[in-house]
Amino acid sequence: MAWEIVAERPEHYAGVRQALLDAFSPSEAEAGLIESIRQSRFYVPQLSFVVTVDDEVAGVLVLSHVGLRPLVGLDGNAAHPAPPARLLQLAPFGVRRSHQGRGLGRALMRRALRAAALRDEPVVLVVGDLAHYMRFGFEPGSQQGLVAPAGVAPERFLVRRLDSWDAGVRGQVELPPSFAGVTP
Ligand SMILES: CC(C)(COP(=O)(O)OP(=O)(O)OC[C@H]1O[C@@H](n2cnc3c(N)ncnc32)[C@H](O)[C@@H]1OP(=O)(O)O)[C@@H](O)C(=O)NCCC(=O)NCCS
Repeated sequence: MAWEIVAERPEHYAGVRQALLDAFSPSEAEAGLIESIRQSRFYVPQLSFVVTVDDEVAGVLVLSHVGLRPLVGLDGNAAHPAPPARLLQLAPFGVRRSHQGRGLGRALMRRALRAAALRDEPVVLVVGDLAHYMRFGFEPGSQQGLVAPAGVAPERFLVRRLDSWDAGVRGQVELPPSFAGVTP
């Protein structure tokens, strides 16, 4: 099996769609999600990775920008200084069923976190099971003063601090319109 991980390019888009339809079947929401993110100002092409196996897209991991809303104190004032506008949200993340369990997901995750660490965003966010993500350094967002986006169960809201993490980064995550109707 000859595989490699690269930042996605337009020639991958059809394969990305097929891989996400396969990984999340019968849901088509995740395939729609990346297509919507690509058309938005929140897309970061350098952080949207595909793993190809024998030149076919076998899996996808996307990091894109999300914003943060300052927490408001009881007096109506923001409880913390305005946070940086851009954090990274991990979604979608999927590997074709026929290729799961062979380490491709882990390799995508390591590559994406390595690339993210070289930039200035302070944190990667994901919605998922802590048991799956703690091996990559994720922890509950609540432990770091970050609040889950509206509609997301707090215990599934996880964060992975990066080198440029700053404890002053606090607030509630605001998902861009692309995520409407999709649980990331
Ligand atoms: C999650 C997923 C991307 C992992 O890809 P993969 O290539 O099978 O992953 P690997 O072979 O590198 O590692 C498998 C590990 O992923 C873990 N895993 C399984 N489901 C997972 C999930 N929903 N989220 C995160 N990790 C998961 C397994 O526990 C396994 O761990 P182990 O090595 O301790 O047994 C893939 O299973 C998938 O596409 N699943 C369906 C879609 C999905 O649930 N995506 C993630 C949530 S958005």
